[in-house]
Amino acid sequence: MRSLIKHVLKRTEPTDELHVAGWVRTRRDSKAFSFLELNDGTCLGNLQIVADAGITGYEDIAKMSTGASVEVRGKLIPSPAAGQAWEMQAGSIKLLGEAPDDYPLQKKGHSTEFLRTIAHLRPRTNLYGAVFRMRSRMAYAVHKFFQERDFIYVHTPIITASDCEGAGEMFRVTTLPDDKAANDAEDFFGKRAFLTVSGQLEGETFACALSNIYTFGPTFRAENSNTSRHAAEFWMIEPEVAFCDLEGDMDLAEELVKYLVQEALDHNDGDLSIFEKFVDKALRERLEFVASRPFERITYTDAVKLLLASGKTFAYPVEYGLNLQSEHERWLTEEYFKKPTTVFNYPKEIKPFYMRLNDDDKTVTAMDLLVPGIGEIVGGSQREERLDVLLENFKKHDLKPEAYNWYADLRKYGSVPHAGFGLGFERMLMFVTGMGNIRDVIPFARTPGNCEF
Ligand code: 4AD
Repeated sequence: MRSLIKHVLKRTEPTDELHVAGWVRTRRDSKAFSFLELNDGTCLGNLQIVADAGITGYEDIAKMSTGASVEVRGKLIPSPAAGQAWEMQAGSIKLLGEAPDDYPLQKKGHSTEFLRTIAHLRPRTNLYGAVFRMRSRMAYAVHKFFQERDFIYVHTPIITASDCEGAGEMFRVTTLPDDKAANDAEDFFGKRAFLTVSGQLEGETFACALSNIYTFGPTFRAENSNTSRHAAEFWMIEPEVAFCDLEGDMDLAEELVKYLVQEALDHNDGDLSIFEKFVDKALRERLEFVASRPFERITYTDAVKLLLASGKTFAYPVEYGLNLQSEHERWLTEEYFKKPTTVFNYPKEIKPFYMRLNDDDKTVTAMDLLVPGIGEIVGGSQREERLDVLLENFKKHDLKPEAYNWYADLRKYGSVPHAGFGLGFERMLMFVTGMGNIRDVIPFARTPGNCEF
C-alpha cells in the first residue's frame, strides 16, 4: 500500500518495504546515482529518494524533472544527511507523468499575483499547499467546535427567493432565455430566485426548533468591491442560538475565533512555519496572543467617540450614524486596542431589518468582531423576536411582508429570544495564515471580472 509522505517522515522505525508517490521538486544526478526530492502534498516536507543507476526504471531518470510524477518502491533508512531523519533507498522507480520544460513552477519565487493566473497548479507550491491544508483543517475544526457543543448542522438552501441582508447584492438564478429575462412568472420557480447571501433566515427557523444550530456553506455577493477582503463567492459559518442574547452571541463568536486559532497552532505547525518565513514573521506570536487573551468590547457610540478623538485623518468621515469603514475598524483593533475587538449596538438605520431594537429606540443589537490586519471577520446580532416590531421593520426597510410570512411565523408561534452571527471563513483563514489577499485562500477565487476555471 502507498504511504503518505507525511507519515513516512514521522516514522520512528526504518522499513524494508516502502511505496510512495508524488511530484519531483528537484533532482541532482551524479555518475552512480540520483537524488530526488519528492513531495506528495500531504505535508510541507519532501522525502529524499536515493536512486542508484541500474535500478528498475532508472532509464527514465532524465525525464524525472521538476514537476514530473513518479512512484517509488524501496527501503526507508536513516539519513546521513543533516536536517533529515530519513531517506529512501529506491529499489525501483517509475515515471508516471513527465513535466516538460514549460512547466510554470520550474523556478521558485513566483509572485502570488502570477500564481493566481495558474490557480490549477499553485497548490503544488509550498505556500499554497500550506494554505489549503490549513483551509481543510480549519473546516474540520469548525465542525468539531460546534459538534462538541451540541450544535446541529443544518444545510440551508443555496438557491433562495429572499434577500437576507436587504442590500440588493444578489446573483440571479434563471433559466429564462435572454429575451424573456423580465418575465418572472415563466421562470423555473415561477418567481425570481437568487444565490443566497446568507443562510441566516433559514437557519433561524431551525434554531427555533432544535435550539442550537449552525450552517457552513458557500454564500454569494454581487457587490462590486474589488478589495483584498471581498469575494463574490465565499464560505460562511453561521451559528444560530435559541434562548440567547447579544452577550451570549458575542461570547460564542469570541470562543469560536480563539478555538480556531488554537487548532491552527496545535495541528499545522509545519504550515505555520512557511507562513512565518514567507508571509508574516510575527504570525505565530500574534496567534498565541489572540488565543490566550480576552478580546475587547466597545459600543458603536464609544467607538465613534474614540475615532473622533484620535486625531487621525481618515479617508472616510467618522460621524455617529455612518458605517464604520475598514480604516476605522483597523485603527480600533490594530492601533488603539491592539487586540481583537467587538463593536456592538449600532444605529438602527444602518443595519438590516432582522436585528433586535434596543430599549433606547435608537440602536440595534448588532455586533461586529474586528481583528488586526483584516478588520471585520464576524457580523451578527440578537434577532428581533417581537412580531409587532418586526412587522414595523418590514415597512421601514421597504420589504414586502408577504415574502417573509414564514419568517414572521417564527414570531407568531412560540417566539423566543435568539441570536447568531456569520464568520467569514476566508477572512478567518487570512487571519491564521497571514495571507493578505482573499484570492490566495480560496482554491478558485470569484471576484469582479474574474471567473476562470
Ligand atoms: O456581516 P455579514 O454581512 O452578516 C451576515 O451575512 C449575517 N446574515 C450573518 C448572521 O448573522 N448569521 O457577513 C458576515 C461575515 C463578515 O463579517 C465577513 O467576515 C464575511 O461574512 N463576508 C465576506 N467575506 C468575503 N467576501 C465578502 N464579500 C464578504 N461579505 C461578508
